[in-house]
Formats: sequence, C-alpha cells, structure tokens
Amino acid sequence: MAKFTIPEIRDRKRRGPPLVMITAYDYPTARIVDQAGVDLILVGDSLGMVCLGYPDTVPVTLDEMIHHTAAVARGAERALVVGDLPFLTYQVSPQQAVESAGRLVKEARADCVKLEGGRTQADKIEAIVTAGIPVMAHIGLTPQTATQLGGFKVQGRDAEAARALMEDAKAVEAAGAFAVVLECVPTKLATRISQGLSIPTIGIGAGPRCDGQVLVLHDLVGLFDRFVPKFVKRYADLGAEMRRAVETYCTEVREGAFPGPEHGFGEES
Ligand code: KIV
Repeated sequence: MAKFTIPEIRDRKRRGPPLVMITAYDYPTARIVDQAGVDLILVGDSLGMVCLGYPDTVPVTLDEMIHHTAAVARGAERALVVGDLPFLTYQVSPQQAVESAGRLVKEARADCVKLEGGRTQADKIEAIVTAGIPVMAHIGLTPQTATQLGGFKVQGRDAEAARALMEDAKAVEAAGAFAVVLECVPTKLATRISQGLSIPTIGIGAGPRCDGQVLVLHDLVGLFDRFVPKFVKRYADLGAEMRRAVETYCTEVREGAFPGPEHGFGEES
C-alpha cells in the first residue's frame, strides 16, 4: 500500500476531505488505526501521560519517543508517521533541533516531526526543514509550556492574544512547516487562522473549520480516564470492556473453568 505523502496532505487543504490524525504509541494500535484509514499517526509526547503514567508531558525523553515511534512506524503502512519532539530537545538551538529531529527520522523512521511553539521556534523549524525533514508545528495551547501559559486553558481569547496567535501561525508557515496543529483555540479564531494560511491546520479543541482534526487515541476509545477534556468525543469504552474481560478471566481461573479441555494438549500416541 502506498504511503500518504506531504504534497497529498498539503493538497487536502484545497480539495478536502478534512485530514484525520490520531495518536498511537505502539505496534498493535498503529496497525489498527492505519487499517481504519487515518491519514496521519502522531506519536505524541502525550505518550508520557497516557502510556507511561507521568503527570504531564514535561518528563518525556527523546529516547522514549524514539522507542515508541519506531514501534508505530513498523505498524503503519499507509498513514504518515509524525514523531513528536519532547520538551527541551529542540528549544535550545537550531542545531539541537536538527539533531533531535534527525534521530526521530533515522533511528525511529518517523516520516516527519512535530514541535510546539510559534514565533519563538520559527528558527528551529527552518533549520529542520533545511536539513530535509518535514515539520508540523503546534500552536495555541502548548502542553510542554502550559505553566508559562497559566495552565491548560483556551488560548487567543482576547484581541491581543488572538493577534499574537495569528502571528505565530504566519511565522510557522513562513518557516516552512507543512501543517500546524491548533490546540484549544476559539472556533472563530481557528477558522480565521485556517483561512489565512496556505498550509493545513489540524485542530484539537479548535472547532470544525480547521483543515483536519486530531484526537488522542486513548481518550477516543476510553482507555484513559484520569481526565477527559471537553473537546474529546468518546467513541468506545474499551477500558470497561477490558476490565470485564479480565474479571471474567480471574473468575474462571479461580473456579477452575479455564483452561477447558479445548485449551490443552493430548499425549503423543
Ligand atoms: O502529544 C500529543 O498527543 C499532541 C496532540 C494532542 C496534538 O500533541
């Protein structure tokens, strides 16, 4: 099956349909979401929260991202694999950014990378793109620097913040990003940003007028219940289903109902 390409992604802004991106962090879920037909798989640093049990994304390391991105890349046949650069693996300098992005592409076989930040990170985006690696930007609520933003809040609500966010969007486009994630941005502003850019916007909590949407897989299928953001739609409750299955297994083992004769092996005759 042919891999989705960056030009095809850019083209979808003009032609539609909206881009579909979802996170995955391992081989089996990468295969499932790839077979389900998503366009892009993001190995987000949300890995830290939904798979590794960290309180937020700040402690995630580049080695952890490489380990999980490599597993996803082995499972994705058609979808483009986006490897997320974790906190402080790109902000220090353009050189650091190129080296970290290079590891995600060379060691983990990511097709492209994502990083958080607007004008302040434009020089890092430009350096990575110049090195030949496609970059997806991420503006609005940027969880790696949520403390600086005053917490996990909707961004761009007043006129000045909205202007700043539009400038961020223009800066990442000018720096060479092929797409930009808009996280927790009011619908009207996200619509204006989407209309003002030539690259696709991919929204999460940014309304229906972005050029695509992204959700965290574990939120969507009910495998992460520490908190559920307002923008999440839960399409399944796999957590409850898995708990039920394991409870039944516990009961059957304790009552001697499992394994049955059909699960055993006879003697060789
Ligand atoms: O890490 C992540 O999963 C993300 C998405 C929420 C966009 O950055």
